[in-house]
Amino acid sequence: MNARHAIAVNSATAALHLALEAIGVGPGDEVIIPAYTFAATGEVVTYLGARPVLADCREDTLNIDAGTIESQLTSRSKAILPVHIAGQACDMEPILELARARGLGVVEDAAHALPASYKGRPVGAIGDITAFSFYATKTLTTGEGGMATTERDDYAARMKLMSLHGLSGDAWKRYTARGHWYYEITDFGFKYNLTDVAAAIGLRQLERLGVFQQRREQIARMYNDSFGELDTCFTPRDAGFGTHAWHLYILELNLPALTAGRNDVLDSLRRKGVGTSVHFMPLHLHPIYQRLYGYQPGDFPTAEAVFARACSLPIYPAMTDRDVAHVIEAVRTTLQEARR
Ligand SMILES: Cc1ncc(COP(=O)(O)O)c(C=O)c1O
Repeated sequence: MNARHAIAVNSATAALHLALEAIGVGPGDEVIIPAYTFAATGEVVTYLGARPVLADCREDTLNIDAGTIESQLTSRSKAILPVHIAGQACDMEPILELARARGLGVVEDAAHALPASYKGRPVGAIGDITAFSFYATKTLTTGEGGMATTERDDYAARMKLMSLHGLSGDAWKRYTARGHWYYEITDFGFKYNLTDVAAAIGLRQLERLGVFQQRREQIARMYNDSFGELDTCFTPRDAGFGTHAWHLYILELNLPALTAGRNDVLDSLRRKGVGTSVHFMPLHLHPIYQRLYGYQPGDFPTAEAVFARACSLPIYPAMTDRDVAHVIEAVRTTLQEARR
């Protein structure tokens, strides 16, 4: 990630919470986030008494961009929280420009994006603070885990302090002979530290991160080569910004060309022994967002359209070529059977 500071924590959710706290998000503030994302991106904003303000995604990359963000800015906007969906970086230059012009913080949700890059820069050293996930399904795993990276000394110090109860010293310093028993509670912090056991797993994983990423990319290429020629689906669009972490491979169905809906396609794949998932049901379609903030179906048409046709196919480094061939065969057969 090439960042000056990295604070190891026990989830990306924790890293996002600490990041927003460090840049000063508080009650009454608004933070712009994508509608097309996971629960964690929005909930962390509410932990601080602030309001998540949703923005629609782009149809090509499924990421938010400066245009969709700008349409949601108000005088209460405090920060922008872009998510690098599936592991492909958002177009960060215009987002950073917009943030600078309006005096907003930029916290990146890179839960999917290790290792990813944007125009030669690793994700992790672009915005003010970046949050990574080491959850079981992620591109590098510690079971549960995460990390916040930043170039700024003040943000790093604040996140470190708040990640362990707001105590003035690390626990290990307090308990070693060279350390001192004395500590001070300087703020009401959180219990977000990464365990040593998880860190040990993460260090071994880190050695293989490049190999993991290459295998994911190979699998994505095999899928693209096979599905790219079909008129019943659309393969993920590459914005050409650099390394794609390929945490997810989201195949989009061309619904008008099919007699079956997305869920029927997923059921058919399951019957053929292929496990799939859906990323994501947009936040504005969830009850809490409708009840608290008055969002309605139809508010973010692109996110909704993508949700209706999205199928996440299996992609992980331990997949063999035979596994990949099995998925390809199952998808092609299913789409052929469902062809209009
Ligand atoms: C976009 C996004 N952000 C944040 C998270 C939260 O990560 P963690 O489980 O490490 O808290 C996830 C988890 O899947 C995610 O998909």
